[in-house]
Amino acid sequence: MNSSLHKLSIKVIAFMVVIFSSLTLYAQQTSRTVADFDKGWKFHLGNVASAEKKTANDKSWRTLNLPHDWSVEGEFNKDNPATQEGGALPGGIGWYRKTFTVPAASKNKLVYIDFDGVYQHSDVWINGHHLGFRPNGYISFRYELTPYLNFGGTNVIAVKVNNQEQPNSRWYSGSGIYRNVWLVTTNKTAIDHWGTYVTTPKVNADSATVAIDVKVKNPAHAHYRTQVLIYDAENKIVSTGGGVPSAQQWADTTATLSNKLKVVKPNLWLVNRPYLYKVVTQVFIGTNKVDEYTTPLGIRYFEFDADKGFLLNGEPLKILGVCDHHDLGSLGAAVNTRALERQLQILKAMGCNGIRTSHNPPAPELLDLCDKMGFIVMDEAFDMWKMQKNKYDYHLYWDEWHKRDLEDQLLRDRNHPSVFIWSIGNEIVEQFSKTDTSGRNIARELAGIVHNLDTTRPITAANNEPQTHNNLIASGALDLIGYNYHHQDYESFHKRYPGKKFIATETNSALQTRGHYDMPSDSIRRWPPSWDTKDFKGNPDNTVSAYDNVSAYWGSTHEETWKVMKKFDFLSGMYIWTGFDYLGEPTPYKWPSRSSYFGIIDLAGFPKDVYYMYQSEWTNKPVLHLFPHWNWEPGKTVDVWAYYNNADEVELFLNGKSMGVKNKTGDDLHVMWRLKFEPGTIKAVSRKNGTVVLTKEIHTAGAPAKIELIADRKIINAGSKDLSFITVRILDKAGNIVPNADNRVKFAVAGGSLVSVDNGDPVSHDSFRADNRKAFNGLALAIIKGRETPGDITFTATAEGLKPATITLKTK
Ligand code: GAL
Repeated sequence: MNSSLHKLSIKVIAFMVVIFSSLTLYAQQTSRTVADFDKGWKFHLGNVASAEKKTANDKSWRTLNLPHDWSVEGEFNKDNPATQEGGALPGGIGWYRKTFTVPAASKNKLVYIDFDGVYQHSDVWINGHHLGFRPNGYISFRYELTPYLNFGGTNVIAVKVNNQEQPNSRWYSGSGIYRNVWLVTTNKTAIDHWGTYVTTPKVNADSATVAIDVKVKNPAHAHYRTQVLIYDAENKIVSTGGGVPSAQQWADTTATLSNKLKVVKPNLWLVNRPYLYKVVTQVFIGTNKVDEYTTPLGIRYFEFDADKGFLLNGEPLKILGVCDHHDLGSLGAAVNTRALERQLQILKAMGCNGIRTSHNPPAPELLDLCDKMGFIVMDEAFDMWKMQKNKYDYHLYWDEWHKRDLEDQLLRDRNHPSVFIWSIGNEIVEQFSKTDTSGRNIARELAGIVHNLDTTRPITAANNEPQTHNNLIASGALDLIGYNYHHQDYESFHKRYPGKKFIATETNSALQTRGHYDMPSDSIRRWPPSWDTKDFKGNPDNTVSAYDNVSAYWGSTHEETWKVMKKFDFLSGMYIWTGFDYLGEPTPYKWPSRSSYFGIIDLAGFPKDVYYMYQSEWTNKPVLHLFPHWNWEPGKTVDVWAYYNNADEVELFLNGKSMGVKNKTGDDLHVMWRLKFEPGTIKAVSRKNGTVVLTKEIHTAGAPAKIELIADRKIINAGSKDLSFITVRILDKAGNIVPNADNRVKFAVAGGSLVSVDNGDPVSHDSFRADNRKAFNGLALAIIKGRETPGDITFTATAEGLKPATITLKTK
């Protein structure tokens, strides 16, 4: 080779290397982008003609970031068509628009918009082109934008949300694009939407087989190959697989490739140590990585046994769960990961290990958190089938949509290690009829849909008709017989259903207002007393006693159900109605009440007393919880309760004088003293073998004198998504909480902003968005966020006649 030719070929090679490596780099960098699409939307409340048109004028519309719930911004009103059952907040029609650019470089890509959830009846347009209608307010869905996009220019997404026809829900739904939205860009050859399915068909202490199905879309019939990598929690690769598809798979426009990988000495996923691996699936064309997709992996095995109950990795484990609706109290339905995490942390600290997503598919972030934090999830699909509960509910869309919605729920959720049970419905009306048994066929059809997409988890339904003629049970489609309530019938379950497996899908419906106590504490009230009670009257101020002595007639107190549940191994577990209070369904009251009394924890996130009963039973940490407060009329007879554990006795002292030693006998879950009130101090001392375990004191509080602020986190992330929850306590001069304090506290924030306020009072009609809140039984809550850039946040609380308080937080 002569030297000039040599130089030329070196140049050509160098040029090709540059081109090739930049192509690879480009392909790798852009293999798949999942962009947060929540910022910079325009919103208009009310219908607007032609707002779907690209050219529509939205200049005067409000600018906001998603997730957004317009209902929670509205006013409580008894005339709102949702009624108090739906939270007495407004519904209506709302429009959202977002103008955005797509780079010209994306021309050869596929672009999608993913909505995690829109309540409800959403229509979506891109540049004036209608993409689709989705009635279900809880389902996640995707539209492809590619054919209608203006690459290198501006585009407009328009979303109409119609929550006008009410009532359509038995609880507070919220309205709007209340979950996250994502803009997803992929290459033409890419893993399909929800395109992996990861299971662990064989698990033991030595090794686990991980089966990974990968669905690849390949419309141009490119010659790709796949690579599958399993990473452990330290991000080390512990197993690899993948391979070259067959000629037929290349020839097809989509193909599912199955892989079996082995993990040696796997760390198993447990509720107390939810060890997470991840599966990274890559697609290559030549040496270009054209796609990469991550799927969570928890290695665990489990079974439900007719006699032994639930076993996780071979060990019996009682499911100690709660049901929750999706709202986040004063934040409304607008999902926030930190708010969800806070709820789960409060529940974990109680010893709770299970969540039922009543009665609909949850936000995906909830399942991510349950994977990470160790909860046994019952993932529920529907609150009604073809037969209605409310005039405008999903029954209207059942025929056309149930198959698609259930399939999409399964495809989205089936890789979560925290999901253990599918529920195909809650208290379905089709259960009951002896003449119309159509519910049997529907149950079989739904079970078929589920099993077609996942055979690794049992199917149940939450039945409030436990008799064998229940059409859902009689269908034979349920792997677990799910009971709502009827705890009196648990013991005889096997007489009714020999050889069948049991789960208490819903329990209790006990009622409490935090900090309110009606005596005598040892007489149980059923509020309302019966199904045909008309004009129920409880307390004139719509409170309910927080001794565990009130429940709805169909339910039980907390102690009543737990006493049975803990006794029998075959009772695999329970999901208590509910963990947290929620907006709507203010049983036993109607308006002016507007949120529930069922929670173990109130709407603001403050535990009611019974929280500590569970903590004393469900955790090993030492508990001694003494209540009620010690501010009563002199001479009044007051019942003093204590929940305790890790001790054999508790002694109570009133102003230094022993009121006696008590201990739990038989199946007792608390001890009680009946005292004549005199101001001063009550003190409880728990002892084990004569050694003091814990002491608790409550003092009679004086007049409100000062404010105390306690932030759940003092350092939060900058930006709009992280939150700090600040508890506001009203104290007397000596620092005792004032149990009935209702001072109005005003808030000011510098360096951040106030997101919402609450106090847990189910009867308050004050706006959650105000800059002030009355304390309720001594407590209030303020939720704040930082600015986009890091800095200090100073939060100040003032109230007439009280010493103010300030705390400083940092954002990073
Ligand atoms: C159940 C129902 C729940 C809730 C609860 C209140 O029957 O499944 O959604 O309404 O009652 O007690």
